[in-house]
Amino acid sequence: MKRCDKLAEVGRRRFLSGAFAAAASVPAATLLTERARAATGGARVDYPSNRLANVSELKPNETLEVAYPDDDAPGVLLKLGKRVPGGAGPDGDIVGFSTICPHKGFPLSYNSADKTLNCPGHYSRFDCEAGGQQVWGQATQNLPQYTLRVDDKGDIYAEGVDELLYGRLSNVL
Ligand code: FES
Repeated sequence: MKRCDKLAEVGRRRFLSGAFAAAASVPAATLLTERARAATGGARVDYPSNRLANVSELKPNETLEVAYPDDDAPGVLLKLGKRVPGGAGPDGDIVGFSTICPHKGFPLSYNSADKTLNCPGHYSRFDCEAGGQQVWGQATQNLPQYTLRVDDKGDIYAEGVDELLYGRLSNVL
């Protein structure tokens, strides 16, 4: 093999090993998203309409744990007792939020005194009466709020989320 052929062969091997290393480092979420896109011919993946609970299960100003749009996305439903942005039901006071902090993914806890969801990580706070608006802390987006529908039997359905869930490239994979 001539010298320049050898150099070309070494260069080809380096290129291929770099390409495989790059492919191996693609996050699993990206691959799942790509798979979902491929499965739908590249179209947007619609949110499922999931029944989360019935109005009768809610107690005023207490969280009810749910998950949406899938089991890996924890959240809560709340009946706040007054009409609020994004509120559903006859009184417009039922809301739902993701409980994963959009900053670095810590689980949030509810403070019933001021109706905020609070992060133990770096102290971000989100106002449940104001559509999950961030009112303090290091997060750089508001808390993802569910789009809710309540039917005539009082069943509560989630049918969308208004912000990107933490750690995802797409809310619906
Ligand atoms: S993880 Fe919640 S503020 Fe950092």
